Amino acid sequence: MRIEQVKKIAVIGSGTMGSQIAMVCALGGYSVVLNDISDESLVKAKQSLQGHMNRRIKKGRLTEKQVHDAFSNLTFSASLDELTDVDFVIEAIVEKLEVKRDLFKKLDEITPKHAILATNSSTIVSSKIADVTKRPEKVCNVHFFNPALVMELVEVVRGPHTSEETAQTAVEFVKRIQKTPVLLKKEISGFIANRILGKLMDEAVYLLENGYADHEEIDLVCTKALNHPIGPFALMDLTGIDVTYFVRMQRYQESGNEADMPASIIQEKVRNGELGRKTGKGFYTYDESKVKA
Ligand SMILES: NC(=O)c1ccc[n+]([C@@H]2O[C@H](COP(=O)([O-])OP(=O)(O)OC[C@H]3O[C@@H](n4cnc5c(N)ncnc54)[C@H](O)[C@@H]3O)[C@@H](O)[C@H]2O)c1
Repeated sequence: MRIEQVKKIAVIGSGTMGSQIAMVCALGGYSVVLNDISDESLVKAKQSLQGHMNRRIKKGRLTEKQVHDAFSNLTFSASLDELTDVDFVIEAIVEKLEVKRDLFKKLDEITPKHAILATNSSTIVSSKIADVTKRPEKVCNVHFFNPALVMELVEVVRGPHTSEETAQTAVEFVKRIQKTPVLLKKEISGFIANRILGKLMDEAVYLLENGYADHEEIDLVCTKALNHPIGPFALMDLTGIDVTYFVRMQRYQESGNEADMPASIIQEKVRNGELGRKTGKGFYTYDESKVKA
């Protein structure tokens, strides 16, 4: 499908990523349906987006009209029936392969035959999902970064099953929503940014677990000595420690190598429900407006 034919977008999953991806698409002028199995998550997504947009109006980054138009483009829905006329789907649900495969099977049945089905997974290559559909040539990765409203880059990953037309349409789509695409010519788990970041996180956790410094000190070194905009522990809190956990579990399931398991401190945080900003506590503690306490 060519970019000119893309009119309506579906974003599945209205959590941290999906809610903001949907708003980015709506601000880009597309008609968007944001879908979730949880009504509560949809309500939270709407409230959170209203807060983000109000702050942008106050700072003069967006006009009231732009925000009003974007919200008129955006529908919040828990029903899959809304997906029968979409042209481009971005899946942003939980990072569990089997759940994503189930969803893509349903999407393949419900959405029009021409629709592109993309996954925003942080790590899973689309060939692990495409085979449940009858349109593998229309399946690819379109990977946004957190927070999607702010981060400019989007990785588009072409799997061996993805057609050149699908890859090019996805790249063009990313440009049309005012983001910068990088196309990976062949797929690799974790893509570019997260592979590089993963090495940094592993080392940071190693230093913490072995008592060389605490998380604040390690973050300080990364921000003040390496000039990173955010330290690895503050970043894990932002992305969700459960996301780090699932990424490592996924890698472990693929490799069977114990060394790929999430670090003990990550496992402990997930067991305790300390998932970062979204739960008010991770490595740091946050107040109600998600600012470090
Ligand atoms: N959090 C990050 O920093 C980040 C960055 C880039 C990519 N990602 C990827 O984006 C995806 C979503 O991550 P997130 O952090 O937004 O997760 P999240 O937990 O904040 O949100 C997931 C949402 O999906 C919903 N959901 C679960 N199963 C569903 C289904 N079958 N149908 C519809 N909705 C369903 C949940 O109710 C929830 O609202 C993951 O694949 C993750 O790897 C995350």
